[in-house]
Amino acid sequence: MALMHWSEKMSVGVPELDADHKELIRVINQLSTDADDDSRRGAVRQSLFALLRYAEFHFAREEKVMAACSFPGIEEHKEEHRDFVARIRDLNQRFDEDPEGSAAIVNEDLLRFLQDWLNHHILIEDKAYCAAVKASPEARKAAKSFKAIEIWWSG
Ligand SMILES: [Fe+2]
Repeated sequence: MALMHWSEKMSVGVPELDADHKELIRVINQLSTDADDDSRRGAVRQSLFALLRYAEFHFAREEKVMAACSFPGIEEHKEEHRDFVARIRDLNQRFDEDPEGSAAIVNEDLLRFLQDWLNHHILIEDKAYCAAVKASPEARKAAKSFKAIEIWWSG
C-alpha cells in the first residue's frame, strides 16, 4: 500500500494542527507497514491503538480551536470527528476480539479508507476553518495551549 505524504497544500495555517496531521499520517503509514508483515501483529495492535488515541487528542484540540473563533461549521465538523473515532474504536475492539483475524481486519480496503478519509478531511473540512482560525488570536492561542489531559474534561 502506497504511503501517505503530508504536503504544503494540506497546511491549515496553524503549526500545532499541521503537526497533528503529520503525526496521524505517520501512524497510518506505520499501520500500513506493519500490516504487510504477519509477524508484526503486536505492532499492528499498537498502531491501531495509537491511531485511536491520537485522533481523539487531535480532534479535541481542533474542536477547541474552532470553538475559540466561533467557527460556524463546528457542529457538522464535530460529527465527522465522532463518526471517525467510533469507527476506529470499533476496529480496535474487533482486533482485540479476534487477533488471529487481524489480516482480514487491517486490509487494503481499510488502509485505503484511512488514507482517503484523512486526505479528504484535511483538504476539505479542515481547510474550511483555515481563514477563521488564522484571523483569530484566541484560536491560535487555544491550539498552542491545548494539553492532552483536557480530553478527559471535554466530555
Ligand atoms: Fe477536523
